[in-house]
Amino acid sequence: MSRRVWITGGGSGIGAALARRLAADGDRVVVSGRRPAPLQQLVAECPGRVEALPLDVADRDGVQRAVETLGPLDMAVLAAGDHHPTPAGDFRAETVRHLVEVNLMGVVHCVEALLPAMLERRHGHLVLVASVAGYRGLPTAAGYSASKAAVIALAESLRLDLADSGVRVTLVNPGFVDTPLTRRNNFPMPDIITAQAAAAAMVKGLEGDAFEIAFPRRFACLMKLLRLLPDSVYFPLIRKVTGC
Ligand SMILES: NC(=O)c1ccc[n+]([C@@H]2O[C@H](COP(=O)([O-])OP(=O)(O)OC[C@H]3O[C@@H](n4cnc5c(N)ncnc54)[C@H](OP(=O)(O)O)[C@@H]3O)[C@@H](O)[C@H]2O)c1
Repeated sequence: MSRRVWITGGGSGIGAALARRLAADGDRVVVSGRRPAPLQQLVAECPGRVEALPLDVADRDGVQRAVETLGPLDMAVLAAGDHHPTPAGDFRAETVRHLVEVNLMGVVHCVEALLPAMLERRHGHLVLVASVAGYRGLPTAAGYSASKAAVIALAESLRLDLADSGVRVTLVNPGFVDTPLTRRNNFPMPDIITAQAAAAAMVKGLEGDAFEIAFPRRFACLMKLLRLLPDSVYFPLIRKVTGC
């Protein structure tokens, strides 16, 4: 059955690959991001299946207004995100604030705007995109890891609060995916996959009922294992592996 799906961060990378895949599978998809051009390109690629709704997820009022125009949704994939390094030698509150505004508050603004109608209809699926970088603090990524750890906790709490409400919550934790976001990285990215492979993993995961979808499997499992390590092992191991 055709679903109505909203994807933030839908103009590029993982969000765009997912939009293409869902549209090809017969869903009606609305894609959002700040820049209209990449959104319009997707609309042109998938005529009659994809609509564009430009917005900035950091703008709470703008998100409220945009969600009012969306109408009833079956699923919202909150994938808008950004990454900038925040190494201790050049640690700036401004950069961390930006990452928190987009990666965490962007999700919060969308959830706030979406939940009342979903709760009233007792129907809807919130898909929050965090990262395996939120499992533990990673070098040079204090701002990014902190923002994504917060999204993981947010999703877990919402999952508990919304049990039996008819509103489903899924957490997506990607490892490295080849997108404009990671093309800025100047370090080797183990087990990196294409955005199409990421979208396929998400579609497969969303068909099941697991709370978390983490991929690629081997790298995600390794990152999960890091959570179990005592600090006395974790810190020296990460310094050795990353050279930081
Ligand atoms: N690539 C990876 O390895 C990886 C790994 C783990 C998690 N993730 C997460 O996956 C999500 C998608 O990232 P990606 O890799 O596909 O990167 P991407 O291609 O850079 O996509 C991010 C999208 O978010 C949009 N965006 C950024 N700031 C926004 C804002 N303030 N308001 C609305 N939209 C905004 C961007 O569009 P505009 O610039 O036009 O706004 C862009 O289309 C992010 O949440 C990212 O943190 C990625």
